[in-house]
Amino acid sequence: MTLYEKYGGFATIHTIVKEFYKDLLAEDDLKPYFARVSMDFLIQHQTDFLSQLLGGPIQYTGRTLREAHQVLRIPKAHFDLVAQLLQENLEDAGVETDDVQTIMEIVASTLPDIVYTD
Ligand code: HEM
Repeated sequence: MTLYEKYGGFATIHTIVKEFYKDLLAEDDLKPYFARVSMDFLIQHQTDFLSQLLGGPIQYTGRTLREAHQVLRIPKAHFDLVAQLLQENLEDAGVETDDVQTIMEIVASTLPDIVYTD
């Protein structure tokens, strides 16, 4: 069973996403990145993001993570903040500690594509 199935699939992801997205926009440091991104896109972004991490049935056909993020020039501190907010939301949603750790390891593995390098 994938983690996506274990935690109730779309309904759970949607709940986590809504909270995660509120938390991102509540951070003065993160809000500007999303200024020109539509709310629909943002929710889509986060839903794809979590569903993929949890092994859900997502066919992602967008740009690579590197293409989508290098242009945003995201420093490591902001990556760490996003990761921290995600971890808190997973914990609040009742995801078990071991599974949170598994998910956060996958998130950490995306750092080289997300964080800006000259
Ligand atoms: C932690 C791992 C992350 C993953 C797996 C991830 C995943 C994604 C994906 C799949 C997209 C859609 C790309 C597309 O449709 O072409 C996207 C877009 C975006 N991400 Fe992330 N993201 C991550 C971290 C971050 C961070 C740390 C920030 C900002 C601090 C961020 C800000 C954005 C923004 C602003 C967009 C929209 C870009 C645009 O429309 O040009 N992401 N992300």
